[in-house]
Amino acid sequence: MSINLPRGTQDILPGQVEKWQAIEGKAREICKKYLYREIRTPIFEHTELFLRSVGETTDIVQKEMYTFTDRGNRSLTLRPEGTASTVRSYVEHKMFGDAQQPVKLYYVGPMFRYERPQAGRYRQFVQFGIEALGSADPAIDAEVISLAMTLYKEMGLNKLKLVVNSLGDKESRSAHREALVNHFKPRINEFCSDCQNRIEKNPLRILDCKQDRNHELMSSAPAIIDYLNDYSREYFEKLQKYLTDMDVSYVVDPNLVRGLDYYNHTAFEIMSVSEGFGAITTLCGGGRYNGLVEEMGGPETPGIGFALSIERFIAALEAEKVDMALNESVDCYLISLGDAAKDYTVKLLHGLRSHGLKAERDYLDRKLKAQFKAAERLQAKFVAVLGDNELNNGVINLKDQATGEQREVQLNQFIETLKSLK
Ligand code: HAM
Repeated sequence: MSINLPRGTQDILPGQVEKWQAIEGKAREICKKYLYREIRTPIFEHTELFLRSVGETTDIVQKEMYTFTDRGNRSLTLRPEGTASTVRSYVEHKMFGDAQQPVKLYYVGPMFRYERPQAGRYRQFVQFGIEALGSADPAIDAEVISLAMTLYKEMGLNKLKLVVNSLGDKESRSAHREALVNHFKPRINEFCSDCQNRIEKNPLRILDCKQDRNHELMSSAPAIIDYLNDYSREYFEKLQKYLTDMDVSYVVDPNLVRGLDYYNHTAFEIMSVSEGFGAITTLCGGGRYNGLVEEMGGPETPGIGFALSIERFIAALEAEKVDMALNESVDCYLISLGDAAKDYTVKLLHGLRSHGLKAERDYLDRKLKAQFKAAERLQAKFVAVLGDNELNNGVINLKDQATGEQREVQLNQFIETLKSLK
């Protein structure tokens, strides 16, 4: 019996992997421009890290974590997201003391959530994310949002919707919390058991409940935006001004609450509005998390970031039918005829590659015609044919596949000739 891959995971095969590389390459290139530097943290962390950051009442912590006990009896968890690990590392390595501030980091790597798999939702998925720590200037919120939008746009996506909201500071949140309790409490027995728990522990989470989404009290629930104090409101207004200044279009959605507990002030999501896109339209999510660094044992430090999955990025590119022009052709395919010539192509091929050319030869002892076919399949720009006779005479036949033009070249000038033609 053969063994298949686990539910909710996927193999990324050649042909598809080039899209991943293109996105990751573009993400790295943009991060360089915006001065975000890469951080790599472990795939698993102490479970406690996610309880404290993502939050005990969230779906991620309650239902979706891959948690296991190792042989030393420690509770470990495959990371469900990247912010917690980044902040843990920031505190552990005292980056708050770095000369360069704010500290701007990015990561690319697999995350794990035990969710119900469907199109765009996996149990292992790859996030690209950025985190900016140490600044409470709304201009950095605008920078973070614009970096995500720039990445999508430069990859060719156009049908996007950016949604922003403010979750306010501590004071605003506690006023809102009280209003939520007053709103839901009298009829909380009509809600799921999770929500009945949330009313005491974290009433904001009720707004994010998948089960009770259509309950009539949901649409009439008090919105945080009506409870913002002056500082929070001005902060949010400044962010919107900066987005407008940068020509980043957005809509304000007072119902956007996000599924993780660490957020305050800015919260945002980017969706695909392409007709061909599936039911799950959120491509990217992020926001501000002032207070999280302290929660992890560091000094009071503001922070903001986002994460997006490459899986949903590719799905959006496919829905918008973006041609990623991934078919890179080969510079030269070496065809040989006769044993001595065949041997010689080993050295010749190595020489071509050492000079930076993309080249290939036959490894299957194919007949001449089949070797030409192989060259065509690789879309070789040039085909070089070497027979034992040519080898004896120190020459090689070079054919330009586009024009059909053929010429005989001295073997000792072959590489230079090819380089100049290319
Ligand atoms: P999140 O909203 O949980 O936020 O996830 C961010 C993005 O990860 C989503 O918008 C989606 O593209 C992708 N994603 C999440 N779950 C799945 C899944 N099961 N399959 C495929 N893609 C998925 C966070 O993770 C925060 N750490 C973002 C952040 C960074 N906030 C501040 N800094």
